[in-house]
Amino acid sequence: MKVIKAKTAGFCFGVKRAVDTVYEQVNTCGGPIYTYGPIIHNEEVVKDLESRGVSVIRSEEELEGITEGTVIIRSHGVEKRICDKLRGKGIRIVDATCPFVKKIHNIVEKESAEGKYILIIGNPDHPEVAGIRGWAGSDVSVIQNAGDIEKVDFSKNKKICVVSQTTFNYNKFQDLVEIIKKKSYDISVLNTICNATKERQTEARSIAESVDAMIVIGDKHSSNTQKLYEICRNACNNTYYIQTLDDLDLNQLGSVETVGITAGASTPNNIIEEVQNNVRIIF
Ligand code: F3S
Repeated sequence: MKVIKAKTAGFCFGVKRAVDTVYEQVNTCGGPIYTYGPIIHNEEVVKDLESRGVSVIRSEEELEGITEGTVIIRSHGVEKRICDKLRGKGIRIVDATCPFVKKIHNIVEKESAEGKYILIIGNPDHPEVAGIRGWAGSDVSVIQNAGDIEKVDFSKNKKICVVSQTTFNYNKFQDLVEIIKKKSYDISVLNTICNATKERQTEARSIAESVDAMIVIGDKHSSNTQKLYEICRNACNNTYYIQTLDDLDLNQLGSVETVGITAGASTPNNIIEEVQNNVRIIF
C-alpha cells in the first residue's frame, strides 16, 4: 500500500513567492494592505488573508477609491498604467510579479520603444496577457489561433517581436510562429513559456498511469487544476477532483493498493499535506 505525492504538486515558484510576500507584508507593514486581484485562485487562502486584514481590489474602478496603504501586485503582473496610477496616488507598491513574467514586460517595453510590432501569443482575456500588453506601445496584438494572425496588418511594421503567455501550450506556440514567419521577413521570436505547468502535467500523467486511484486537489474555478484532472482521468479511471479533505469520500476509493496525489498551482501545501496524511492513515 503506497501513497505517491507528486513533487510538482501545488504552488509554482512565482505563486509561492507572491503568497509569501502577502503574509510577510501582513506581519511587517502597518496601514491597509490590498492585493490587486485575488493573490491566487483559492478561496481558502483569500479568506484567510481577508481575516488578517488584506482586501482584494477587484477592478480599476475600485482602485480609484484607494487613497493610502500598500498594494501588492500578484504573480500575473499588471499593465504599466496601473503601476503609474498607484505611484501617482503615492500608494506604496509591493511588486510580486513573477520574475518570468516581469522579464516579458521588460522585453515588450524595450522592443516596443525600438519601433517593433509586438505579437503576444496567448489568451487575450487572461490577466497576465492584459498585463504584458500594457507594457507595449500601440503596435501590439494578441494572437490565440491561426485566424487571429489574419487580422494583423503586417505591412505596417516590418520588424516584429513575438512573445508568449507563460502558460501557453508549446506545440501550439510553435505552429503559430511558423505561420507568422511566412508573413514577415524580420521577426524575432522569444519563447517565454514557463515549464512549471508542463512539468506538473507530465509528472501527474506518469503517476496516474502507475496507480490504482488518483486524487487531484485544487479550487473548482482553477483552470490548471481542471486540466490536471482531465489528464489524470485519461490515464486512470479512478480519479477524484477535490478542493479539500472534506470532499474526499475515503470509502469511495475502495480497495486500492496505490494512490497518487497531485494538486493545481493554486493549492496550498497545508491542504495537500492534510489529504496526504489522511490517505496514509487509511491505507
Ligand atoms: Fe511564474 Fe511560471 Fe508560475 S511564470 S507564476 S513560475 S507558472
